[in-house]
Parts: sequence; C-alpha cells; structure tokens
Amino acid sequence: MNSFRNIVLIGFMGTGKTTVGKVLAEELDREFIDTDDYIELWVGMSIKNIFEKKGEAEFRKLEAELCKKFANPASKIISTGGGMIRNAQNMNLLKQGGKVFYLKSTPERIAYNLRYDTTRPLLAVEDKEAKIRQLLAERTPLYQKYADYTIDTENKTVREMAEKIIELSGVRK
Ligand code: S3P
Repeated sequence: MNSFRNIVLIGFMGTGKTTVGKVLAEELDREFIDTDDYIELWVGMSIKNIFEKKGEAEFRKLEAELCKKFANPASKIISTGGGMIRNAQNMNLLKQGGKVFYLKSTPERIAYNLRYDTTRPLLAVEDKEAKIRQLLAERTPLYQKYADYTIDTENKTVREMAEKIIELSGVRK
C-alpha cells in the first residue's frame, strides 16, 4: 500500500530538497521529479528567466499545473519549490497522493548554503539574510501545516535525512 504513495519534500530554498530527493530515488529505485527542473525543461527557460520575462504569477500557475499532473498516488519522489506551500490547492493535491516531509532549517544555515547562489530570483536583493528571515517567518506556519513529518536538517548528512524519511514513510527498500 505504502509503496504506491509519493514521497513529497517541502521546505525553504536551500534546505536540500533536491539533493535528498535524488538520494531517496536512488535508494528506493523510484522515479524522481524536481518541480523546478520539470518547469525549466517544460518551458525551456531557467526559473530566473521565467520570473524575469513572464513574472512570478505565471511561474505559480505552472507549479499548480504540475501538482495536478502529479497528484495521483504513485511511487514517485517529488521535490517541490520552496513556495509551493503558498497555494492550498497544490498542497491538498500533493497530500492526496503521498506523504509530505518538511525539511526544516534555520535562517543562518539557509543563508550559508545559498551564499553564492544567484539562481533564486526571490533572494536577488541586497540583504539576502533579512529576506530569508522574512520569507521563512511568513512560510513556516504553512510548512508545518502541510507536513506529515518534519525532518530537522541540522547536523544531519543527506544520507541520514534520506534514511530517516525512508524509515518514517514505511516504504521497504
Ligand atoms: C521559490 C523556490 C525555488 C523556486 C523559485 C521560487 C520560492 O525553489 O521554485 O525560485 O518561492 O521559495 P527551491 O526551493 O528548490 O530553491
């Protein structure tokens, strides 16, 4: 039964959703979908360019389309963009099809992980850490609301996080 439910990763930018998702997919021999990568391939533009040329609202529409596409219970590993939780319909669909794991991290750690990053349009501001704090404060209640399980990423390796998720999901290797 559990094998036919997606494993969905949510959390702020820079918390390791994509990296952990890839390890999970490898360990469990499942298909991996990263919603940002999928959208980039689909539109043929980087996320940064989509935000610049089409606007954030258009990007959010594409995210919503993807959720409809991948909502059915299946055995995929789905890593979502950090803002996916802003749309209740997206999260209701994703929750119908799988178990949701929230990768939780501190603003300091996120700022450190993203210190050289230039691919996140929402963080292309002068004071990146202040923006991270602001967005994280706004979004944390939503991450918590939709999470079936919370994974504290502090002091954990990617493999340890993946093992914890496998254990909690009840999926057998
Ligand atoms: C966003 C997070 C990004 C990407 C886009 C917007 C957000 O994904 O979807 O830049 O609103 O938090 P990651 O969480 O994979 O960085």
